[in-house]
Amino acid sequence: MTATIVSPRLMRIGGGSVGQIAEVLGLFGLSRPLVVTDPWMLSSGTVERCLAPLRAAGLAPQVFAETVPDPTDTVIEAGVAAFRAGDYDCLIGFGGGSPMDTAKAIAILAAAGPGQKMRDFKVPAQADKAACPILCIPTTAGTGSEATRFTVITDTETDEKMLIAGLGALPLAAIVDFELTYSVPARTTADTGIDSLTHALEAYVSKRANPHADSLALSAMRLIGRHLRIAYHQPQNAAARESMMLGAMQAGLAFSNSSVALVHGMSRPIGAHFHVPHGLSNAMLLPAVTEFGLNDALPRYAEAARAIGVATEEDADQVAGSKLLEELRALNQELGVPTPKEYGIAAGTWEGLLPLMAKQALASGSPANNPRVPTEAEIIALYRKVYA
Ligand SMILES: [Fe+2]
Repeated sequence: MTATIVSPRLMRIGGGSVGQIAEVLGLFGLSRPLVVTDPWMLSSGTVERCLAPLRAAGLAPQVFAETVPDPTDTVIEAGVAAFRAGDYDCLIGFGGGSPMDTAKAIAILAAAGPGQKMRDFKVPAQADKAACPILCIPTTAGTGSEATRFTVITDTETDEKMLIAGLGALPLAAIVDFELTYSVPARTTADTGIDSLTHALEAYVSKRANPHADSLALSAMRLIGRHLRIAYHQPQNAAARESMMLGAMQAGLAFSNSSVALVHGMSRPIGAHFHVPHGLSNAMLLPAVTEFGLNDALPRYAEAARAIGVATEEDADQVAGSKLLEELRALNQELGVPTPKEYGIAAGTWEGLLPLMAKQALASGSPANNPRVPTEAEIIALYRKVYA
């Protein structure tokens, strides 16, 4: 078996690195950025952390701030129009996963042929072309999107969260500055942190795992396992924020070069139909889906438990696997993760959508990478199990 490894050409990592954005652009001869962000980043002034150093370097960055949570194809089309209206030579995605994914999708759609829509690029299609280079600056730890070849865009006609994959979505460069995460609210710290943990765990147990992605996944689990609770309870803890940011990026690199699996496959339909934040819908599923596949990749799950820090080398795999399940349940408890029912989703609505959600989960391809590949009926049963 061969593995293809992709990553950004340059990653500038560390506290204060966002101040070096103009220098990074300069390394690639870029000077006319369109900064893609969201309305809150603009109104709170946070985007100035990116704009000020660009202006100080004599550049004149423009801003597209219409990004929405769970970015839609219609917002991407508006972004393409904004991109074409100016003389830009790159896109900078600044914010959480949504602005970064929006910047990626704008670059892909702007390179598309006449009449092509975002849905023409969903997997299994390959989105390898981009209209210009993309740079990403995450402000959460995080989706890891700054380091991946993926973007997730919602089709507004079908309410489907489409996975779009290819070199066109891979950033040229990423600036990974943990100091941008100090002001992230506790709920978002928890949700995005569990998303990162899910990336690392799914990459590690995936049928598409490979030794390079494994090393990144294990490192990410060590960092996230030891620091997620601290970052949640102590938002100003620099060591925890820094470790979470690095862990999120490494988890992004891991799943970009392996894959995600059943948790993500089942999570996207929950997000699409009920607008549950991505990390939170992952968290709702993670313990039950891990239990579902545990015995089909027991040595891998056991090693993950050891990396996370809840099992020891002395623990037999079965014991370590049990400890992993306990830890995932305890983490949800401590981080205040609700069930879909507690989140406010009506039982009848949930039940009525399960057949469609199961079909959409399978169609994304992610469940096929799971150690135990579920049938449609098993996916429905898992959705029922996590509801209460
Ligand atoms: Fe994710």
